[in-house]
Amino acid sequence: MKTGIIGSGAMGSGIAQVLASAGHEVAIFDTNPTALSKSKSLLKSSFEKLAEKGKISKEQAEEFWGRISFTETLNGLKEASLVIEAIVEELSIKQQVFKNIEAVVSKDCIIATNTSSLSIASIAAACAAPERVIGIHFFNPAPIMALVEIIPAVQTRAGLAEDVKAWVNSWGKLPVITKDTPGFIVNRVARPFYSEAIRIYEEGMADCATIDAAMTNMGGFKMGPFALMDFIGHDVNYRVTESVFNSFFYDPRFKPSLSQKRLFEAGYYGKKTGRGFYNYTEGAERITAIEDKVLQQKIVNRILAMLINEAADALFLNIATREDLEIAMTKGVNYPKGLLAWGDEIGWSNILQQLDELYHYYHEDRYRASPWIRNKVAESSTH
Ligand SMILES: NC(=O)c1ccc[n+]([C@@H]2O[C@H](COP(=O)([O-])OP(=O)(O)OC[C@H]3O[C@@H](n4cnc5c(N)ncnc54)[C@H](O)[C@@H]3O)[C@@H](O)[C@H]2O)c1
Repeated sequence: MKTGIIGSGAMGSGIAQVLASAGHEVAIFDTNPTALSKSKSLLKSSFEKLAEKGKISKEQAEEFWGRISFTETLNGLKEASLVIEAIVEELSIKQQVFKNIEAVVSKDCIIATNTSSLSIASIAAACAAPERVIGIHFFNPAPIMALVEIIPAVQTRAGLAEDVKAWVNSWGKLPVITKDTPGFIVNRVARPFYSEAIRIYEEGMADCATIDAAMTNMGGFKMGPFALMDFIGHDVNYRVTESVFNSFFYDPRFKPSLSQKRLFEAGYYGKKTGRGFYNYTEGAERITAIEDKVLQQKIVNRILAMLINEAADALFLNIATREDLEIAMTKGVNYPKGLLAWGDEIGWSNILQQLDELYHYYHEDRYRASPWIRNKVAESSTH
């Protein structure tokens, strides 16, 4: 299949690598020639490095690299039967690009967006044939992360999501299908991992290091929330939180935190700037975790209950199937277990009790338990 990529940044280049490695010809278009030449050298060296490490043969490296071409005109994508857009995250620019590409490609060409936070419906609305528009959301870095979220818009033709799912499978990735709602699966369900951790920190219940230690040592997560936010960068993580909150009509469950906003405003983006919740500059004092098992268990229980509640609510609202929700959180953000399986293990009445305690203590809608959990507990008590 001939494919086209619009935008040769981090995501566009990564997706091109995936497609070329899966046997497709890929033409990459970017309006910025510097970005295009950067992508060229990055992709070439990626294939060379894979060959050096023995992950692919030298011949394969040449073959994969040979499938990729670079173009400074949109016309260079006219033969593609699938185009994936990965340009700046701005609706008006994306809409213009979708209008332009539609005029260039054949009428059967599928046009996809890799957007993380915009609705697919709003992008598709710019097209004369919105039924061929769909979201194909890769995670960063695309060649490494297995998960791909497929998001049909209200306009997308029936059956296209399933066709795309088969393609994504053939690229060696793990596809899940999700509704066109803010944050799709991963960026929605994962929010409490960050926001509830910050809430605990803001209240002074524990410091960042203790919360991180609790979540890694007792919770089994690969990274604690503060180390992870500092790693992702508060410019990215804060913006996602704010965008999900705004898009959910200010549902308090997704409310961003002022302490993170201040880090964002200060330019303390985390590891990449030397300062975030932690100070990475040389000689800076390191915070050590408090080895209090009771406190740490309390922290894990609270964050986990909020995460499980979010997964349960996504299931309640038919955002995705149970199976896809579990795949998304274990493969997209490497959680140690699927959140619903975790809920089964902890026991739904325990989760409900934890959430109701928080709800009664704070009197905040943020802590409302999903009806899915209430139904589950009610069902099991009648058996
Ligand atoms: N970076 C991530 O972690 C991540 C993960 C998943 C999805 N996304 C989404 O993928 C998209 C791209 O993100 P990125 O991190 O690769 O961005 P990036 O800034 O690295 O790259 C964007 C590229 O698009 C090009 N561009 C801008 N306007 C253009 C236009 N009109 N026509 C053609 N090219 C244009 C720019 O020159 C740049 O090279 C965004 O929608 C983003 O939300 C990003």
